[in-house]
Amino acid sequence: MENDYIMKLVNCSQEYWEFVRRLRNDERVADGFIETEKITKSMQINYMRNQAQNYRVAILNGSALGYVGVIDDDFRICTHPDFQGKGVAKFMINESLKIWPNAFARVKISNVKSLKLFKTLGFKEKYIILTRDI
Ligand SMILES: CC(C)(COP(=O)(O)OP(=O)(O)OC[C@H]1O[C@@H](n2cnc3c(N)ncnc32)[C@H](O)[C@@H]1OP(=O)(O)O)[C@@H](O)C(=O)NCCC(=O)NCCS
Repeated sequence: MENDYIMKLVNCSQEYWEFVRRLRNDERVADGFIETEKITKSMQINYMRNQAQNYRVAILNGSALGYVGVIDDDFRICTHPDFQGKGVAKFMINESLKIWPNAFARVKISNVKSLKLFKTLGFKEKYIILTRDI
């Protein structure tokens, strides 16, 4: 169907929970995240039972390309490495802002791609979080 070739942001129904978990655990994206704990299948089921309503998945032609979540207005976002650099994250953020207009992002200073992504979309640096290495 023609419509299948248009990117869509869909609810994170149970069929996508494993996609989100695998992507979240993927070594190729681990550097981008503040927390890098490996997520087991049962952890994911418990988590998604409560939080799936705060997540969306970007779909094109039946394939999942990435996910976005907004919890307490705080973004979490990831595009599968096979589909990065094609505007997927930009699409997910713009669509998410229609649902969560006050959402913000906590981004690692080393995550140049993500900083550029949010700044391109008009986000500005407001705070710096200082932590100790322990
Ligand atoms: C950051 C991330 C979500 C970007 O996803 P993406 O789908 O590739 O991003 P897009 O294609 O929508 O790119 C949007 C903007 O991001 C920036 N960007 C994306 N890839 C980039 C790269 N390789 N280098 C520099 N900037 C980049 C650019 O500003 C780009 O806009 P432009 O194409 O107009 O220059 C993706 O790299 C990712 O999943 N990283 C791992 C997880 C992560 O870091 N999540 C964010 C935690 S806050």
